[in-house]
Amino acid sequence: MKSISINMLLTSVLAMSPLLVNADETLPMQDIQQARSLVKAFGSDLKSVLITTMKTAGPIKALEVCNTQAGPIAEKNSALSTWDIARTSLKVRNTSNAPDVWEATILRQFEIRKAAGENINTMEHSEVVQVGEKTVLRYMKAIPTGGLCLACHGSKLADDVSSKVNELYPNDQATGFKLGDIRGAFTLQKIKL
Ligand code: HEC
Repeated sequence: MKSISINMLLTSVLAMSPLLVNADETLPMQDIQQARSLVKAFGSDLKSVLITTMKTAGPIKALEVCNTQAGPIAEKNSALSTWDIARTSLKVRNTSNAPDVWEATILRQFEIRKAAGENINTMEHSEVVQVGEKTVLRYMKAIPTGGLCLACHGSKLADDVSSKVNELYPNDQATGFKLGDIRGAFTLQKIKL
């Protein structure tokens, strides 16, 4: 019997998947480029605050800073553009970052694409989605789990880190990640005028 590779199998499953809405409609290149550069700016804002605080004040202080600053940093970056920008994940720390149905679908597709061998550093998806009367441009980019992330999202958190996480986020799901896992995604949307 001829064997079918896992990649071929996944590719055909993806092709047949009824999950994609308006998959034929992709974003104009100009919008994709805008979204990419916003993700870059937002991501480096977050990372520089995180790295500086981890270095100068340690993980407990960095947890507090993530808790109070992640939202305002997202808002600042959204305000600078026409896009709404946020982060989401299949396993969230802050429940207000929980994915909507479309985002959860794309996050699951990211996992399938990763399993099929795609590099998560460049993994993205964009789509034009119709919501009632509104046409919405949507863009997501995978966020890889790096070494720096494991102190707060890994499998073994230090006791003081773990209790601070539980204190701030009693419903936390965002641990148990390994290096190279997809931690979540940046998610951007804007209404097409
Ligand atoms: C000092 C602890 C700490 C470190 C280190 C850390 N995070 Fe987080 N992370 C948090 C906290 C706290 C939140 C919740 C922020 C909020 O309330 O919006 C969070 C939220 C997130 C979210 C949003 C989805 C969710 O779960 O709510 C993503 C995505 C994320 N982190 C990715 C990363 C990545 C990638 C790294 C490594 C580059 C990283 N984190 C490192 C503490 C940390």
